Amino acid sequence: MEIRTIEFPEHGDERGTLVAIEENRDIPFEVKRVYYMYDTTKGTTRGRHAHKELKQVLICVHGSCTIMLDDGSERVDVLLDRPNVGLYVDSVLWREMHSFSPDTVLMVLASEYYAEADYIRDYSDFLTYVEEVH
Ligand code: TYD
Repeated sequence: MEIRTIEFPEHGDERGTLVAIEENRDIPFEVKRVYYMYDTTKGTTRGRHAHKELKQVLICVHGSCTIMLDDGSERVDVLLDRPNVGLYVDSVLWREMHSFSPDTVLMVLASEYYAEADYIRDYSDFLTYVEEVH
């Protein structure tokens, strides 16, 4: 499976660091929604779903966590521990987020508004869907 990370330029000087992210330029889609999660409890796994159409970029803007991506035939763990690196998560990928450090803030840029109909929440349904679309 090809893992696509995006490194955003850091604008740093003696005052510190700033990262700017522009849709269609740094992110390969129009950003319709931003959400973020924090205060994640120890040992928690989030996600455990796939999307039919939604594309996302996940950025661990503070702390660290691991994103497991599964395309139906292969599973890959990606560590996110830098605030200027995003993980592009294409549609039709099962994802699980785990190993959150206590201070983690995981920000997600999404290509669509929240839509429950776009979710595949059952793993065997995901495998069936993968067969259908490929
Ligand atoms: P959930 O899908 O369980 O999060 P995760 O995939 O990270 O495990 O979402 C948690 C709650 O937040 C759930 O009640 C749905 C709501 N929610 C929104 O209202 N808008 C959103 O954009 C997202 C992602 C979730």
